[in-house]
Amino acid sequence: MTAQHDDSALLPGFDAPEIGPTGRPLTHFPVPAPLRGHGPARVITLCNQKGGVGKTTTTINLGAALAEYGRKVLAVDFDPQGALSAGLGVATHDVPTIYDLLLGSIANPAEAIVPSTVPGLDVIPANIDLSAAEVHLVNEVARETILARVLRKVSDDYDVILIDCQPSLGLLTVNALTAAHGVLIPLECEFFALRGVALLVETIDKVRDRLNPAIELDGILATMYDARTLHSREVLERVVETFGDQVLETVIGRTVKFPDASVAGTPITSFAPEHAAAEAYRQLARELISRGAVA
Ligand SMILES: Nc1ncnc2c1ncn2[C@@H]1O[C@H](COP(=O)(O)OP(=O)(O)O)[C@@H](O)[C@H]1O
Ligand SMILES: [Mg+2]
Repeated sequence: MTAQHDDSALLPGFDAPEIGPTGRPLTHFPVPAPLRGHGPARVITLCNQKGGVGKTTTTINLGAALAEYGRKVLAVDFDPQGALSAGLGVATHDVPTIYDLLLGSIANPAEAIVPSTVPGLDVIPANIDLSAAEVHLVNEVARETILARVLRKVSDDYDVILIDCQPSLGLLTVNALTAAHGVLIPLECEFFALRGVALLVETIDKVRDRLNPAIELDGILATMYDARTLHSREVLERVVETFGDQVLETVIGRTVKFPDASVAGTPITSFAPEHAAAEAYRQLARELISRGAVA
């Protein structure tokens, strides 16, 4: 920065733009206007074959924040661990799940959709049954498009459908990518965050080539960022160097409130509505709406 810039920052009435953790000036993302009608949904898949990077936490809290802004949201649990269902306080045993819809033992998705405690946020649960789906579906005709065909039936009822993937790049994840208009990649601000991302991007490129030409990368979301550690700042710098503007301006900080909220089976936006982390997910919702990734 030149001396001239330093001086100008001191002039009355001149506000230097505040720089965010990604190194870019902070944007004010406005509170979105309410929608007049709903649907058809834009489908966003949350994907990273690395576990523990914040896919499920982001699906829950982005979904809740979008619902607060009046969007009709369907969150699809696409991980046999069922963490999304649990995190939203939804039963997973002896209930119809996404597995039944994939196998066709239930034809109507409405039979599996349950409301969460957040008005406007619905869930299709999953449980351990889903781990058998890849084996069952492998001989199906058009096995990569099964989820897309299921979700098409309810698309008109929602503004956005969020799919929470399991940590793998197998057939289920390919189904989630084939069903998607956009992909959101959460990256943990930790060592090896970038390891495996090349393979993920390659998988998305293959799906674009062969199955879903319209799929877009909606953004890379840095999660578990700790501004106090040099390490976190360095990792985020590397991520921005690698992906540039694809890195979302919103960065999710590390806080123990997330595990606490999960145990309570509720989004952080309800568990600790005033907490900075709840506000971060509201900002993510506003940023995605500003970018046109959500209506
Ligand atoms: N920003 C965060 N700060 C602290 N802990 C977090 C944060 N985001 C997620 N977690 C916790 O980290 C663990 C893994 O997150 P999760 O969203 O389940 O990742 P994934 O779905 O990618 O496996 C969970 O225990 C979750 O509560
Ligand atoms: Mg998960």
